[in-house]
Parts: sequence; C-alpha cells; structure tokens
Amino acid sequence: MNKMKLAVCLASILGTGAFMGHAMAADNLADFHSQNQECDSCHQPSGELSNDSLTYENKQCVSCHGSLKEVAEETKHEHYNAHDSHFPGDVACTSCHSAHQKSMVYCDSCHSFDFNMPYAKKWERHEPSIAELAKDKSERQAALASRPRDTVDVVVVGSGGAGFSAAVSAHDNGAKVILIEKEPVIGGNAKLAAGGMNAAWTEQQKAKSIEDSPELMFKDTMKGGRDINDPKLVEILSSHSKASVDWMTNMGADLNDVGRMGGASVNRSHRPTGGAGVGAHVVQVLYDNTLKRNIDLRMNTRGIEILKEGNKVTGILVKGMYTGYYWIKADAVVLATGGFAKNNERVSKLDPKLKGFVSTNQPGAVGDGIDVAQNAGAATRDLEYIQAHPTLSVKGGVMVTEAVRGNGAILVNREGKRFVNEITTRDKASAAILQQTGKSAFLLFDDSVRKSLSKINQYIGLGVAPSASSLVKLGEEQGIDGKVLTETVARYNEFVKNGKDSDFERPNLPRTLNEGHYYVIEVTPGVHHTMGGVMIDTKAEIVDAKKQVIPGLYGAGEVTGGVHGANRLGGNAISDIITFGRLAGEQAAKYSKEH
Ligand code: FAD
Ligand code: FUM
Repeated sequence: MNKMKLAVCLASILGTGAFMGHAMAADNLADFHSQNQECDSCHQPSGELSNDSLTYENKQCVSCHGSLKEVAEETKHEHYNAHDSHFPGDVACTSCHSAHQKSMVYCDSCHSFDFNMPYAKKWERHEPSIAELAKDKSERQAALASRPRDTVDVVVVGSGGAGFSAAVSAHDNGAKVILIEKEPVIGGNAKLAAGGMNAAWTEQQKAKSIEDSPELMFKDTMKGGRDINDPKLVEILSSHSKASVDWMTNMGADLNDVGRMGGASVNRSHRPTGGAGVGAHVVQVLYDNTLKRNIDLRMNTRGIEILKEGNKVTGILVKGMYTGYYWIKADAVVLATGGFAKNNERVSKLDPKLKGFVSTNQPGAVGDGIDVAQNAGAATRDLEYIQAHPTLSVKGGVMVTEAVRGNGAILVNREGKRFVNEITTRDKASAAILQQTGKSAFLLFDDSVRKSLSKINQYIGLGVAPSASSLVKLGEEQGIDGKVLTETVARYNEFVKNGKDSDFERPNLPRTLNEGHYYVIEVTPGVHHTMGGVMIDTKAEIVDAKKQVIPGLYGAGEVTGGVHGANRLGGNAISDIITFGRLAGEQAAKYSKEH
C-alpha cells in the first residue's frame, strides 16, 4: 500500500487542514489524483472500464488505500464511521467515491449524519423510472437487434434476500445463473433487517422450550394481515419456515437467539446469538454461498424489460450503468426486486396519508419490479396496503428494531406516560405514536434490555440513544416529564412482577426496568413495507389478471403480494424471502430443464 497517498486521503476523510489545500485545487477525485498520477493508476491500460461492477478500478483503490476494514480502522469517529458500515459483502469504494464527478456518501440515502467527505455533495438521485426509460428507444432497439451478451438458464433480478436465495437455489438445482443488482451495494432492504426471521417449531425454539407450531404461525399471520392474505401462500410460509431456518443454518448462519415481535403469540423471531441484526448476517451468508458457487453477480445492472416470444419468457433487457443496454437470453427470470416504500410519490398516490413521510428503506426500493412485471402482463394485488414502522429515530433516521420493545422497552410520550401495548401490530403502534404531542414518542429501556440485544449497542454508538443514571435526569435532558416518567416506570415494573399489564394488556413482560442507566430514543413512524405486489401462485410463478401463468416468469419477496395481506408481522419478511426465494429458484431451474 502507498502509505504516503493513504495519509493524504485519510487526512481528507478526517477533515484536517493539511489536506484542504489540495481539496481547493481539485473539484473531484479524478482531478485530485491526476495531480500526481496517470490515468492508468485507476484504469486498465486499454482505458475501458472493466465492467459495471468496476472490479478492476476498485482493486486499484484498495491497492493504494487498503481494504475497507483497514480504512475503517484509520477513520474512527466518536459516533459513526462510514467505512465501518453495516453493509455485508465486499463494499466497493466506488459506491460512495465517484471519480469524475462529485461523490455521495451512500449512508446518506437512509440516514442523516454529518459526513465531511471531500469532493462531495449531498445525497440526491435522479434515476429515471422504468416508464421514462422508454425514451431510450433507439439504444434499446440496437441492443435487442444484437446477439445476446450472455445465455443462461435463469436470470435473477435483485440481490436482496429473495434474489440471493433464488440464485443459490436455482444453481443447486442445476441451473446456470446470472444475478443482477442495480445498486452499487448488495443486499437490498434484506441487509437492513434487524429484529429477526420468523419460523415455527424450530430446533432453536425447542432448545428454549418455546411451544409453537406452523398452524399458530399461520393463524397469527392471517390475523395480522386482517385475513386478506392468500391462505395458500401463508400455508407455504408457515409450513416451510423451519426448513428455511435449517437451510440457512446449514449454509453457515447463526439463528440461535429467539425473541418476540409484534403480533406473534410466542417468541419465534430468529436472529444471531446475542441479538445482532439478522439481515446483514443472512445476506452475508447468502453472498458467501453465491461466491462459493461462482454465480455471476453483476452490480450496477438494472433489469428493464422481460423479453418474450408469444407469452413465453426468452430473456431480459438490462442496462449496465457503464456498459449501457444489452440483453441476456434465459429460459426463466426471477423478479426479486423488493418493494417500493422509498418511492414516496408512488406510496402517497396509493395511501395519501403517508405523503411526505420518511422511509426506513434503501434507495433502490422504488418499485421497478412491479413496472417490469406489469409490462410483461402480470397482475398485481393489495398495492394500497403500505406499512409504517413505528420506531424510526428522529435523530439520524435509524430504524430501531421492534426487538428492543420485544425484549422489554416501553414507549412513553412527552408527558412521561405509556400510551399503547408496545408489542401490538405496527399499524396500531404507528397510529398511536402519531396521536402523541409532536407526533413522536420515546422508546425507554435500561441496561438489562441493552445487554439482552447487542444491536442496541449500535444505536448507542451512533449517538441516537442518550442516557442518564436516573429517570428524572433523563426526563430533564430530553424534554420528558421526569416525575411522571418515574411513576410510569414504577407502575410498569409492578405489572412485570405481577405478570399482568392492567393498562394496555401487553402480552409479554420480559423484565423490569431498573438496572444501571436508562436510555431513550425519540421515534416516529417511517414508511417501511409494501404488502402488495405482483400475483404469484404456489410455485412462485407470476400470473396475469386471468390467473394464467406467464411461462418462465417467477417472483419472490417484497415485489410480490398476498403473503402478508393488509399488514405484515415483524419478522415475517425474512421468512418470506428465504422460503419463496428458494422456491422460485428451484422452480425456475426445473422449468429451464424442461423447456
Ligand atoms: P430487497 O432485500 O429489498 O432486495 C431487492 C433488491 O432488488 C434490491 O437490492 C434492489 O436494489 C434490487 N432491485 C430493484 N429493482 C431492480 C432492478 N430493476 N434491477 C436490478 N435490481 C433491482 N423483515 C423481517 O422479517 N425482519 C426484520 O427484522 C426486518 N427488519 C427490517 C429493517 C429495515 C430497516 C427494513 C427496511 C426492512 C426490514 N424488514 C424486516 C423487511 C425486509 O427486510 C424486507 O421486506 C425484505 O428484505 C425484502 O427482501 P427482498 O429480497 O424481497 O427485497
Ligand atoms: O423492527 C424490526 O426489526 C423490523 C422488523 C420487520 O420489518 O419485520
């Protein structure tokens, strides 16, 4: 590694004056580098970009500056460190650092922390919609008139949990697979999942003497979804959930911690030992298994149009960020593109009361898959059912997992009072928070809750969970009535001791709140999950308005509708994407063999 160059770069990241002289002279990273280096220190001798993932170019960054882990060590801040991100996989330097234009910190697409990155501007995105891309008519026609760039059995669109599961499962069922992802980072919303993966009657539950059954999971899911779910899909979800946990653990996942999430009758949310976030772990395991199988994974590559002959899929037109339009010939395509909760224009057309709400989602969750599927003749269902997650931190925009409540935190308002059963379903908890003064509330917990869930240390580390040694002091500092708060917590602790919440009938009362420090996180609801999507059958085949299968087209995960009805239960999405991702991959591979 060139230590001299590294020192200059780190000085820039740390914002020291020494570097700023250079920063003045250059407008972007390429200008800065060109002061001392030639183009070939970043680019191939041919001058061409290596591919849409920028594999070669990113290797050059690492050869000078070190790996992400090494850079993270050098750039420690008090509360956050962009290089020590929660992203799984090998995060490419170019995800944040563009060379020939101003850079944008990818974290800003979800959060609102202050980063002092040189040659940078605030996060913004002007991604044309699938419909707007129709104007690229001549480029698209030229691409389609050319030979396919690749021929495979199955193309999977989207590298979230559903996409990775589909890719691994299609591969293991004998298919040659390409997995495409439009973002520069893998994992979609799946990598952000925190609270857990629901599954019934697992070995992990049995080890903790938790009595559960697929029938009870089915019942809870239908009730949470207000009974408009497709019962056949819910049956698959609940009866395959244990096998999905086993599938993941056989590939190396640790899902040994089991906790409670809203709307569940028992503890069935599986997460890593100690309570770390489930999503980053699950995606890392799936990514590792994708690499192990040499599956072709292409970043910065967007699925644009399903190609068909008659009604039958023949491939997909894609757009590489750098290589432009090309098509891949394939027998089957699995759409695993996630939901659209980040697209407030779309969300608010379907549910006007969510207009202007922030979202918990990653930037790619805009609903491409629904457009692509509809253009291919797919039917949709339940699009108007959009879920707000009750606890998005006001500071920094960090979604605080429901598991914090599941493990014992309570919700209080500025007046210091509880106002809801904290582990009710999300629709009810969100509505209750919006009725409080300032349309926000405070999640309150103590050190015993903190110790029960390691994810909480991240919130404390990020500086969004201030603490104090007494409730009165905490109240004073955070604008909550400390005297009432003290009475509220004493009353709640009595409920825990007696095993009955006489105020709000909270069904789980895991622990009293009286150990060590108290913490609060100010929270407000954020748009979180889109329950509706394309219609699938029990083989994950996408169907049209007459419920006829579109041969070769499959769907899995949040892009689909029917599994969660009108309201999804916490922890059911990760279960959904692993189960239906596997199913879609298996069925697509089987279809490819038969056609
Ligand atoms: P995603 O994981 O969103 O992946 C879709 C991928 O497709 C994305 O990477 C996207 O960029 C890509 N894509 C989109 N369009 C295209 C295109 N045209 N071409 C190529 N690629 C494309 N659920 C739980 O069950 N438990 C939890 O604890 C939990 N916690 C959550 C926490 C947060 C902060 C969020 C936002 C969600 C959470 N969820 C949780 C919900 C869950 O994470 C998602 O519903 C689930 O991950 C969706 O998985 P998916 O594979 O369908 O889509
Ligand atoms: O609160 C959470 O951990 C989110 C869970 C979910 O969306 O299922």
